[in-house]
Amino acid sequence: MKEKIESLRESISSAIDEAVTGRGLYELKVKFQTELKGIMSGMKDLPKEERPTFGKVVNEFKQAMEELFEARAVVVRKMELEAQYEKERVDITMPGKSYKAGALHPITLVKNELIDIFAGMGFKVFEGPEIETDYYNFTALNTPKDHPARDMQDTFYLADNLLLRTQTSAGQIRVMEKNAPPIKILSPGRVFRSDDDATHSPMFHQMEGLVVDKGITLCDLQGMLAEFARKMFTSSTKVRLRPSYFPFTEPSVEVDLSCSECGGKGCRLCKGTGWIEVLGAGMVNRRVLENCGVDPDEYTGFAFGMGIERIAMLKYGVNNIKTLFENDTRFLEQFED
Ligand code: PHE
Repeated sequence: MKEKIESLRESISSAIDEAVTGRGLYELKVKFQTELKGIMSGMKDLPKEERPTFGKVVNEFKQAMEELFEARAVVVRKMELEAQYEKERVDITMPGKSYKAGALHPITLVKNELIDIFAGMGFKVFEGPEIETDYYNFTALNTPKDHPARDMQDTFYLADNLLLRTQTSAGQIRVMEKNAPPIKILSPGRVFRSDDDATHSPMFHQMEGLVVDKGITLCDLQGMLAEFARKMFTSSTKVRLRPSYFPFTEPSVEVDLSCSECGGKGCRLCKGTGWIEVLGAGMVNRRVLENCGVDPDEYTGFAFGMGIERIAMLKYGVNNIKTLFENDTRFLEQFED
């Protein structure tokens, strides 16, 4: 019996030392337990007085082997983990794949900011078509076919009566035709003119504003523009109105803002004047109101139109309008937030 135990001890303990997987070790343990059972079943054949000694020997043997199994299990588990780590190893020094996320274009940023500012004053957005009829773009805006003001806004004609709109002012007519006052709309959009130099592009964006109600005056226009200037630029930005001419407003004004670069002292940006022209505006011409079926004796209104590129150029210090359209990512990346 003793020899049987000793030979089992030898064979199992060397097999334990060779086990390299948890599974192998488990199978070995099952085998050991079966063998041990066999040995124990031999106990009944022993004389009674030898049984306690034998039982003690078997127990010690069982415990010793179990300790070996446990110790090997720790080693095998470690080996297995190491193998797994090696397999799943990630080289964290390798440069990652970078995906460029898109960002809003500065023109869109400025457009959104303008909408935010004016929406805060109660304006609603209306978007008119980019292809307009001669009537909406010019005639209804008190600019008939022979009007000299048409020269300043020469554009791309698609047919005799169809053109790429030169101004978002066309939207004024569309809104007034369909809605009775009070009206308070903002109309952003693309416009087109045959113009092309450092500050003009054949395609650019405008933001139109129109307010029509009883008792609207030029003071309302000035006050609202002052609020816009403070919000868009700095809290100390001032507004100045200069007389001007547009066929669809009377009186008409050109609106200047105090130069945000020098604070009005005079610098290169404002060409030494301390002021920067940003938009055209005026009281809606009574003929325009009449064209839309609005009674000019009952209602008055003001309108303004600004170039979004111009505001963006001033706000971000861009000196050539083309920079805004080249889509050079080195330029555009500067606006990612
Ligand atoms: N539509 C004019 C332009 O494009 C700007 C303007 C809008 C002027 C509204 C007065 C009122 O130059």
